[in-house]
Amino acid sequence: MSKVFTGLAVSVDGYISGKLPEGAEEFGSGLGDAPTLFDWYFDGDTPSEVFDGFKLSEPSARFFDTIASRIGAIVAGRTTYEHSGRFGGGSPHPTAPMVLLTRRPVPEAGDRQTVITTGVEDAIAAAREIAGNKDVGLMGGGLVSSALAAGLVDEVILHQVPILLGKGRRFFNELPEHVELRLLQAIPAPGVTHLHYGVERGGVGR
Ligand SMILES: NC(=O)c1ccc[n+]([C@@H]2O[C@H](COP(=O)([O-])OP(=O)(O)OC[C@H]3O[C@@H](n4cnc5c(N)ncnc54)[C@H](OP(=O)(O)O)[C@@H]3O)[C@@H](O)[C@H]2O)c1
Repeated sequence: MSKVFTGLAVSVDGYISGKLPEGAEEFGSGLGDAPTLFDWYFDGDTPSEVFDGFKLSEPSARFFDTIASRIGAIVAGRTTYEHSGRFGGGSPHPTAPMVLLTRRPVPEAGDRQTVITTGVEDAIAAAREIAGNKDVGLMGGGLVSSALAAGLVDEVILHQVPILLGKGRRFFNELPEHVELRLLQAIPAPGVTHLHYGVERGGVGR
């Protein structure tokens, strides 16, 4: 059975987006004032074989491409979708289509965008169907937290960037119970440490 995992760039204090720009009530496009969360995509000399234009350090490229090539479908939360220019009507992944989880209507979904409004279980089931024997990647802190709470996440990857942002949107929101993790890999690389965890027994509490 295919796996469900998330791999997000995160500050040491746990934020996946930075502070709002001065005077803004909502992020326009994703990261607020935290471009540093993604510097490691471009600060090396090893081209990604999955994402055109990414040039990473050698250890980051090896880890990132291994993870990115596992993905057969993405599930994104509505906020991630809105903050990313709706992915231009496509998907954040070069080959894997996107499933969007929301409770609200979506005005113009693209051909590679499947909209699910009936909850996280249905969104992940739809993504599994699309992914076939490949894996499902999750994007967005609220989405990841709902999926963890539902016991649907197999692996959690933190691309941990050595910065304290102080404020922003969190990777992990409140969960009903604890989730035990097992460290699978810890890969230090220039500007980022890749922390790869397995979720014990695929679920919450014990
Ligand atoms: N650093 C990184 O690697 C990275 C990666 C991805 C995203 N981001 C950033 O993270 C931020 C978004 O994360 P977020 O945690 O604020 O939001 P999110 O998880 O992207 O989206 C939350 C929204 O998704 C829908 N949703 C989530 N769980 C649901 C459920 N169980 N049932 C129904 N709908 C559900 C809801 O939409 P409705 O309100 O429409 O119902 C909810 O308001 C963005 O700024 C994005 O740029 C960073």
